[in-house]
Amino acid sequence: MCGIIGVVGSSDTLKILLEGLSRLEYRGYDSAGVALAGAGETWRARTADGTESVAALVEACREAPAHYRAGLGHTRWATHGAPEAVNAHPHFDCSGTVALIHNGIIENHRELREELESRGHQFTSVTDSEVVAHLVEELRHESYELAEALRRALERVRGAFAIAVMDATEPDVIVAARRISPLVVGTAPGVTYLASDVPAILDRATHFYAVDDDEIVRLSPEGFSARGLDGSPVRLRQLAIDWDLETAEKSGYDDFMTKEIEEQPQAVAQTLLDRRDGEGRIVFDELRISDEELRDVRRVVLVAAGTSLHAAHVAKYAIERWARVSVDVDIASEYRYRDPVVEIGTLVIGVSQSGETIDTIQAMREAQRRGARVVAVTNIVDSSIAREADAVVYTRAGLEVSVASTKAYVAQVCALELFALRLAQIRGTLDAPEIERVWGELLVVPERIATALARRDSYASVAAQLLDATTYFYLGRHLGFTTALEGALKLKEISYLHAEGYAGGELKHGPLALIEPGVVVVAITTDPAMREKILSNVAEVKARGASVVAVASDDDETTEAVADFVLRVPSGDPMTSPMVDIVPLQLLAYSLARGMGRNVDRPRNLAKTVTVE
Ligand code: F6R
Repeated sequence: MCGIIGVVGSSDTLKILLEGLSRLEYRGYDSAGVALAGAGETWRARTADGTESVAALVEACREAPAHYRAGLGHTRWATHGAPEAVNAHPHFDCSGTVALIHNGIIENHRELREELESRGHQFTSVTDSEVVAHLVEELRHESYELAEALRRALERVRGAFAIAVMDATEPDVIVAARRISPLVVGTAPGVTYLASDVPAILDRATHFYAVDDDEIVRLSPEGFSARGLDGSPVRLRQLAIDWDLETAEKSGYDDFMTKEIEEQPQAVAQTLLDRRDGEGRIVFDELRISDEELRDVRRVVLVAAGTSLHAAHVAKYAIERWARVSVDVDIASEYRYRDPVVEIGTLVIGVSQSGETIDTIQAMREAQRRGARVVAVTNIVDSSIAREADAVVYTRAGLEVSVASTKAYVAQVCALELFALRLAQIRGTLDAPEIERVWGELLVVPERIATALARRDSYASVAAQLLDATTYFYLGRHLGFTTALEGALKLKEISYLHAEGYAGGELKHGPLALIEPGVVVVAITTDPAMREKILSNVAEVKARGASVVAVASDDDETTEAVADFVLRVPSGDPMTSPMVDIVPLQLLAYSLARGMGRNVDRPRNLAKTVTVE
């Protein structure tokens, strides 16, 4: 999972590539590289400098030729081969005239490498990607023009790719192709771009186009032509992009994570926009699935990974309570290998911020193969899951750059609760006044989040007193359990501290053995119906020497007496509280991580979009 960018026709090639790469770092940052082509020559720089690879690349490019008008750039999250400069892209063929960048995995790279080596090709990296540069080289020697050479090379390849090649002997052409990994093309007068994601070229291109699976595009300064990898004619879909550059940058915040935490009220508010018609019906313009089909749903299965999985857990409580349909939540990477049972009337919902998580895509495909109707809940318009699903519900969180998901999570919970409400409405399991009440509760969530955000300093001061702790347990019951899972994930991914989320009832079944002085227990006590029980858990861990941090609502008068620290949140309906209660936990994780000197936007070993299994 890597970021790729290409440009042809500009006199500012290097600047475009480097700026684009800095905006693609959330796709990976183990190493980075650029290649420029012109006048029969190729120039290349590559760096591997941990989370600072792109910054190091800028330095390494100080001597780059200024007049080359075609270039490719890549920021890497290593899969095959260590994160070292020799494995960084772009890769060259033997002669150094063909340059290639790739995001994805070439599954049959070993056999292709053996075959190419037996014909005398010299490899300089241990990546899977380099084989394609050498395949293209051979086909170029057979006089195929560049697009046909790449098309034929890809006939030999199994796996996933967004791939682009250029050849210094034809420096006004770049060819790119896609299977599974994302790829967009952008145009502006006299310049044509490609990238994994729009933000990389947002300030440069004026029109954007999606390359679909098994399509190949030939870019030149005048524009592009596209066809299928089978040679068939295709027309790229134009994308309606309403992001501005401001959205894609930090807007003055120290980091993207803070910016995105602060944007949560808008993320929820936007996800709620236009969701009710004049007669009070919950509506989704983009939901291509009929009321009759939704009425007949007998079972819902949610598939997702990471934070999206936690949003899916919230949806289980909401759908079961409001729509009275039985719901299973499945880890996407487990679903497809489990020989899942898909009965008539099964609705599968894939939840993915990026819409490109390979585990979630594959789980949804498996469900479709077995006859389920499949709905995508995603933040990215035209992402893979949005295109492949039978129906889609968009969260409207806007671009999320920080690896740790925050605003996308609350938007997912909001969209899924709306979906649950819609199901309930269609199935008649909630009456009109109750739907009106829940809708009213959803409408006040942005304000509740904003109130919690205004308390950021008090949350930070609690974090400052916990800086010595190394082990955290998060406990909750009912929806507090889902918040415990997500709170623990936030802490572990950005601070590298050990943190686990548990259902309070599970404490005595094992984890209690780990409780001792020095351990911090974070308890979510906001649900009045669950409070007594979770406070019993608090008493159990306090008796064993743990320090307790409670997330408590403003109207709670009991928690303060038993917890060591209290993170107050505005009171409200427990069913919508996961969107509010997570806020102090995001900020607690953030303050602890910053206090420990971590790079919160780019945690080690992680990448924003996981496009490999
Ligand atoms: C955690 C995080 C990841 C993602 C997971 C799924 O903060 O961001 O756990 O939630 O990789 O990603 P999407 O939602 O893009 O499918």
